[in-house]
Amino acid sequence: MRLGSEVAGPGAVRHPVFARYYARVSVGADARLGFAGVRGRLLAGLSGRVIEVGAGNGLNFARYPASVAQVVAVEPEPLLGRLARESARRAPVPVDVVPGAAEALPVESGAFDAVVLSLVLCSVRDVARALEEARRVLRPGGQVRFFEHGRGGGPAMRLTQRVLDRTLWPALAGGCHLARDPVAALRRAGFELGPYRGLSLPERGPRLPASYCVLGTAWRQDGTPDAS
Ligand SMILES: C[S@@+](CC[C@H](N)C(=O)[O-])C[C@H]1O[C@@H](n2cnc3c(N)ncnc32)[C@H](O)[C@@H]1O
Repeated sequence: MRLGSEVAGPGAVRHPVFARYYARVSVGADARLGFAGVRGRLLAGLSGRVIEVGAGNGLNFARYPASVAQVVAVEPEPLLGRLARESARRAPVPVDVVPGAAEALPVESGAFDAVVLSLVLCSVRDVARALEEARRVLRPGGQVRFFEHGRGGGPAMRLTQRVLDRTLWPALAGGCHLARDPVAALRRAGFELGPYRGLSLPERGPRLPASYCVLGTAWRQDGTPDAS
């Protein structure tokens, strides 16, 4: 069993200890470690209907541009969901926070102009299924905006990431994994990549196993909505 986690039904995500920790440190990381600026770049220029998957405590909400008509924010963890609802009340655009999991998004197919994935593919149980769902809910020509961390660095860092993934890290960090490759996963799921770039966070100081980030856009190019 995961440390501080509770066993729950399929689709349920309960990490009460991690959720309390994340709610506290994420605010400081935004203010002091360069995350806030990245969130602004993640969301710049979006418009129409947006679905944000695994919205956490809602740190992105304040940064949606006025051209966004509605955000549906899916968050499965109950404490983070409550904090996200508070954050939604202060957001400059309408944000509806709903419970649900990336692997089975509780929304209709082809209904969104953009899917936002922000530090979440590291934590979902099934990355391929989550990206299949992202494709399903996007309209043809719609985009995924992603800000994710993953595998990076030299051989020693990559080995460290793999060892942590098989031992302590997921249990300590709410199911997070360090050695996933979000760009490769998006390609495998049929998205067309670009533009995207790597970045290191925190912006200053030594690189940590979770420092290797990517920020960018991936497109759903085909003309036919998925039926499921
Ligand atoms: C590191 S936090 C990031 C939160 C937020 N996206 C942000 O940018 O600050 C990871 C988030 O993924 C959520 N999560 C974990 N498993 C999930 C799943 N299967 N489906 C959707 N969200 C999930 C967690 O509850 C948590 O809110």
